[in-house]
Amino acid sequence: ASSGCMIVVSNRLPFVLQRNKDGNLIRKASAGGLVTAVAPVVINGGGLWVGWPGIHLDDPNEPIPESDPNDITPTAGLKSEKVVAVQIDKQIFDSYYNGCCNATFWPLFHSMPDRATFKGEHWNSYIKANKEFAECTIKALQSLPKNNNEVPLIWVHDYHLMLAANWIRQAADEQEMKCKLGFFLHIPFPPWDIFRLFPWADEILQGMLGCDLVGFHISDYCLNFVDCCQRSLGCRVDRKNLLVEHGGRTVRVRPLPIGIPFERFVELAEKAPRVISTNQKIILGVDRLDYTKGLVHRLKAFEKLLENHPEHLEKISLFQISVPSRTDVKEYQDLKEEMDQLVGRINGRFTTANWSPIRYIYGCVSQDELAAFYRDAAVGLVTPLRDGMNLVAKEFVACQINVPPGVLIVSPFAGAGETMHEALICNPYEIDGASEVIHRALTMPEDERILRMNYLRRREKLNDVNYWTKSFLSAMGSLMSQEDHDD
Ligand code: UDP
Ligand code: G6P
Repeated sequence: ASSGCMIVVSNRLPFVLQRNKDGNLIRKASAGGLVTAVAPVVINGGGLWVGWPGIHLDDPNEPIPESDPNDITPTAGLKSEKVVAVQIDKQIFDSYYNGCCNATFWPLFHSMPDRATFKGEHWNSYIKANKEFAECTIKALQSLPKNNNEVPLIWVHDYHLMLAANWIRQAADEQEMKCKLGFFLHIPFPPWDIFRLFPWADEILQGMLGCDLVGFHISDYCLNFVDCCQRSLGCRVDRKNLLVEHGGRTVRVRPLPIGIPFERFVELAEKAPRVISTNQKIILGVDRLDYTKGLVHRLKAFEKLLENHPEHLEKISLFQISVPSRTDVKEYQDLKEEMDQLVGRINGRFTTANWSPIRYIYGCVSQDELAAFYRDAAVGLVTPLRDGMNLVAKEFVACQINVPPGVLIVSPFAGAGETMHEALICNPYEIDGASEVIHRALTMPEDERILRMNYLRRREKLNDVNYWTKSFLSAMGSLMSQEDHDD
């Protein structure tokens, strides 16, 4: 099936540009689900990717380099001609990205309003940045070869770009260019009572309603959005069919839970050499260093486990990979400090001559190395306080190819907790309870582990990232049929 031409618009391009020591631009792969999910569509179809290249170029016409011949990341095949690098004034970009996106929308949409700051200046920068992305997208649309049988599809991603669609639609209408507009939010959409704390909330809704389809991971987020449209804008809505009427159009809202490139992770896990040399059972955490991930609660639960169940002393080890993220934002700097202290304190309390309970990696790990960690861990610990979906939970089960397998623990406050029913569910806020769930995972009989993991892997294999892309295109009306799949 063909979607025609697709223009993907996201804040982050699938790679960032950096200068090497000779001053030449080179590509560095960006991590994250969006990139692996969407790249094949752009690479294999006739599409384009509009996004921020991670660097401010003095000469905006400086050519984007092709990928390194040794590059094996999923986006290696993305030719430079398919990439539109959006250039935004440095100060405006900082205030848009660090300010409005990551100090306001990120905490607010994760239902943590006390961590959010609200500033008119940041909001103005957000408007300007979204206009810039919209203008680049319109230029990209104008550059596409004209084919009357295919209407180009513009797919806007995530909380950075909630306003862009409306301007794209207006400009396309004025210039009589046909296009369909879709939006996907990769983070939660909060309940109305939280959402309305944002002083310019109505404008966000109007921006998103510029699309023909608005997708979220799970139906709770869809219902929150529909509720906000009704209560804030007074739109007529249909909750059963998830429709919102706005400006004489009907906007479709859909739950479209994202998946992972399942087979790719299985292959990585089959090939990857061992990276951990220890006889201890590994409990694994992999997260960006972000306060939504529940890392402080997780360490405290682990400490409680060692306290209440001394039989595990010297027999288990917590591997925590924490990827540096948004390091210009204060909340993230504070969390780094808090984690460093906590790891030090717990290790100081329990370390013996031959053993330390926590191994803490502050850094980024390549995906093949990650696959080895996932494969060799006895317990995957995914305990966010709130998370749109959480791909780590899905990557962990894909890589659990050893027999007998390990156990996944997941928080009910992640999108993944909604569908991965056979995982052990753990409320990260209750430290004692969480420590008991880890104990249960460590002592679970083999046959129960096999049964649970088989179900989890089967579902993620069926509902993989290709299925997600197809479902989106199908919901856009670009595909004629949709195959039936397990929940
Ligand atoms: N990841 C990575 N290197 C690392 C740690 C994580 O490439 O060192 C990837 C991981 O494979 C996953 C993504 O980062 O695809 C994290 O996605 P998730 O949905 O779990 O959380 P997010 O960071 O998007 O909040
Ligand atoms: C989340 C967001 C993505 C974002 C990623 C990494 O997954 O949904 O849009 O790209 O985090 O964050 P960063 O700020 O580094 O792009």
